Amino acid sequence: MTEKKLTIAIDGFSSCGKSTVAKELARKLGYIYVDTGAMYRAVTLYCMRNGLISDDGTVDNENLKKVIGDISISFSYNKLTGANATLLNGELVEDEIRRIEVSNKVSYVSRIDFVREQMVRLQQDMGRQGGIVMDGRDIGTVVFPNADLKIFMTATPEVRAQRRFDELTAKGEKVNFDEILENVNQRDYLDQHRDVSPLRQADDAIVLDNSNLTRDEQFAIILQMVEDAKRK
Ligand code: DC
Repeated sequence: MTEKKLTIAIDGFSSCGKSTVAKELARKLGYIYVDTGAMYRAVTLYCMRNGLISDDGTVDNENLKKVIGDISISFSYNKLTGANATLLNGELVEDEIRRIEVSNKVSYVSRIDFVREQMVRLQQDMGRQGGIVMDGRDIGTVVFPNADLKIFMTATPEVRAQRRFDELTAKGEKVNFDEILENVNQRDYLDQHRDVSPLRQADDAIVLDNSNLTRDEQFAIILQMVEDAKRK
């Protein structure tokens, strides 16, 4: 009997390690991994480069709507390193989309209904065959409401800000902890209070608070969840 290929949805707050775990899990299972936050970040970068978003976050909806269908977002997978890289219209933008300037603006773009509709369409296409781990905010609620396994990850804002601070500092970015904490809190608020697809836990999601878990402990818990889901 061939093994059941699961659709796994990982949702939760920003910077709680969803991508790291989702990537690791996909590699272990031989599944496709899709980082949907990277897709919203890529659209945000597109807006910044093309004068479609102002400093205060106001988006030129009219003009963005005209081009949204033509923005191509894809991922390239490096088999040797296991790294996934985001491409915007064929250009490698993986590092640029992680910069704080993009983080500060992404909530203004990800709350737009026609942007979400387009991204959800692309995400559903990517996951049609199963065998996928997708992380984001609305995967278990909107993109794959019938996912085989839904995990809702969370950790305290301070723990998450510290992780992002360490990540950016390691990349050589000069960042301030308080500014990052503020960004984490602001994004939590905007993610949970936007009109379209706000961040919320699906009724059938399993909550995983990793504030006090090591990566290994967390991964073991998740692997057990996968085994349980396969037997269902
Ligand atoms: O996971 P991340 O921090 O890279 O996500 C970037 C932003 O995109 C975040 O503010 C929330 C938004 N997002 C979303 O609205 N829906 C998703 N499925 C994924 C991310």
